[in-house]
Amino acid sequence: MDLTSLHTVYVHHLKDLYSAEKQIIEAAPAMIDAASSQEVKDAFADHLEESKSHLERVHALLQALEVNPGNTKCEAMEGIIKEGSNVVNSTGDADVKDVALIAAAQRVEHYEITGYGTARAFAATLGYSEAASELQLILNDEYDADGRLDKIAEGGLLKMGLNQEAVSS
Ligand SMILES: [Fe+2]
Ligand SMILES: [Fe+2]
Repeated sequence: MDLTSLHTVYVHHLKDLYSAEKQIIEAAPAMIDAASSQEVKDAFADHLEESKSHLERVHALLQALEVNPGNTKCEAMEGIIKEGSNVVNSTGDADVKDVALIAAAQRVEHYEITGYGTARAFAATLGYSEAASELQLILNDEYDADGRLDKIAEGGLLKMGLNQEAVSS
């Protein structure tokens, strides 16, 4: 990573987020298919549409700086998605699987919250106020997506996922 200026670190963060969003968009359809509950499927599908918009908006922020996204790969997201695909490919109780899928998706959201939060702070510090506002809007979407998943899990899915064995142990 080029550490010559805060600007170069900011650009690196945008490229990382661009790669993360691209990987998320590729992985999301399998997550939607793997979920059983319509509520979970809908939450994943709605956020997939938001993620497509995030990708375009991060691209626009890079373009405004005359930077090409290039082929920077977000290796952290690659790992998080790999763990998620282990859940996608596993069989078992449908509710338990939905809970595990939500947990996998929330790891994605939390990574994005960190990434966009940092990028927003960098943009604000650098005086790129429009970029900072745009990144704040994306960050809000990530918080909302995470909160919606919390509500679904805590609204009953977590309890439904408790099997007898787990209760008695
Ligand atoms: Fe996103
Ligand atoms: Fe997200």
